[in-house]
Amino acid sequence: MSKKPTSTQTDGANTLWGGRFAGGPAEIMARINASIGFDKRLYEQDIAGSKAHCEMLVKQGIVGEEDGAQILGGLDTILDEITAGKFAFSEALEDIHMNIEARLAELIGPAAGRLHTARSRNDQVATDFRLWVRDAADHLEAGLRDLQRALLTRADEHAASVMPGFTHLQSAQPVTFGHHLLAYVEMFGRDRGRYIDARARMNESPLGAAALAGTSFPIDRELTAHTLGFARPMRNSLDAVSDRDFALEFLGSCAITATHLSRLAEEIVFWSSAQFGFIALTDEFSTGSSIMPQKRNPDAAELIRAKTGRVTGAFAALLMVMKGLPLAYSKDMQEDKEQVFDAADTMNLSIAAMTGMIRTMIVKEDAMLAAAGKGYSTATDLADWLVRELNIPFRQAHHITGEVVKRAEAKSVMLEQLSLADLQAVEPRITDAARAILSVQASVASRSSFGGTAPDRVRAAIATAKKEIG
Ligand code: ARG
Repeated sequence: MSKKPTSTQTDGANTLWGGRFAGGPAEIMARINASIGFDKRLYEQDIAGSKAHCEMLVKQGIVGEEDGAQILGGLDTILDEITAGKFAFSEALEDIHMNIEARLAELIGPAAGRLHTARSRNDQVATDFRLWVRDAADHLEAGLRDLQRALLTRADEHAASVMPGFTHLQSAQPVTFGHHLLAYVEMFGRDRGRYIDARARMNESPLGAAALAGTSFPIDRELTAHTLGFARPMRNSLDAVSDRDFALEFLGSCAITATHLSRLAEEIVFWSSAQFGFIALTDEFSTGSSIMPQKRNPDAAELIRAKTGRVTGAFAALLMVMKGLPLAYSKDMQEDKEQVFDAADTMNLSIAAMTGMIRTMIVKEDAMLAAAGKGYSTATDLADWLVRELNIPFRQAHHITGEVVKRAEAKSVMLEQLSLADLQAVEPRITDAARAILSVQASVASRSSFGGTAPDRVRAAIATAKKEIG
């Protein structure tokens, strides 16, 4: 067989692993294999990991001081080159790890070859990626905190603004807009907790697991773990190179956050419709229609709602990649990065857009108030009054109230507009005091149980949340 590369082969064997190779890979092989197109985003983490590893090798006497100093200097130069956009990434060098190592060899010569002692790309990529995901989790968590702050500010303004509360999207009982927004503060608070929890679990160092079995060199894994801000080294080398739970947990957390965002986005979509008219988005967060001049479209909210599919898809995709993979490293795992990068970018964008919409939306209190009284939303208040004041069992009170609603419906009036005579026609013991509790304001004010919608409760909840969130 000819050793001359065919026309579909790339030039020569890879200098970093090509010792037993005569020719280069087919062009299509190089293309399916290369990850540099996306994993270049790991350059900072890769250089930080290499520096920590090099310092440890020197300290342990595995690499000489002089070589170590050259390696560290070369890595700093590379960091500057990449940051300045002056680094020439090469697809033939597959990935970020080999691109950096090859450049190091160009810069400092043979000493560069000592950096990969007691290390493999398997523990290297696991380390780099953990560092990246750790930062991404911190970043999303901080973004959600900003979103919570924006929600709290608006909740504060509207602690007593009455709106309809829905179940089944049918008018149920009046609530305050502040209370409604606080529900999302709670959701995003749990989301933050998930990133924090995931971070704590992922914060262990795979570095030093080498290819899969550990190394015969006297390395100090505690030291590299500590340098990179990890709490400890991972305890099992096979697990260290093959675990992607940290990426899955991150994506799972993203999927839940995206789901929360989609619910709020959906509410923004219908709140801002002409039929609801509860809010208006400002020009900053609306788009027009090229044909219908009257339109103000809530595109950002719609896109946030839609991007939930993309993020949840990333989670499902990585689960499928990992399913059934035997220990330890398999190249399948290279497919982890694009999903995580895309999900992280998408989440950052969605959270920022949502924060902007919440900060700027115009709240139409009058429209909310008017809608709150529709649909006999204070019927439960009347039933409760019958129980409380007339000692009628709740089921019977429910039935009596149903009759009252029927009457109001027949007369096309709200419950509070029914005369005392109308009420007494259904239940003679009803007094004028019952009519006073039928307004939506009275209704929300009465729901003062812990976690309830009464404006005083809402204000107290905001104060607590502000203290916690800062
Ligand atoms: N680019 C690879 C990845 O992202 C790096 C690890 C390659 N390891 C190997 N044994 N080929 O997973």
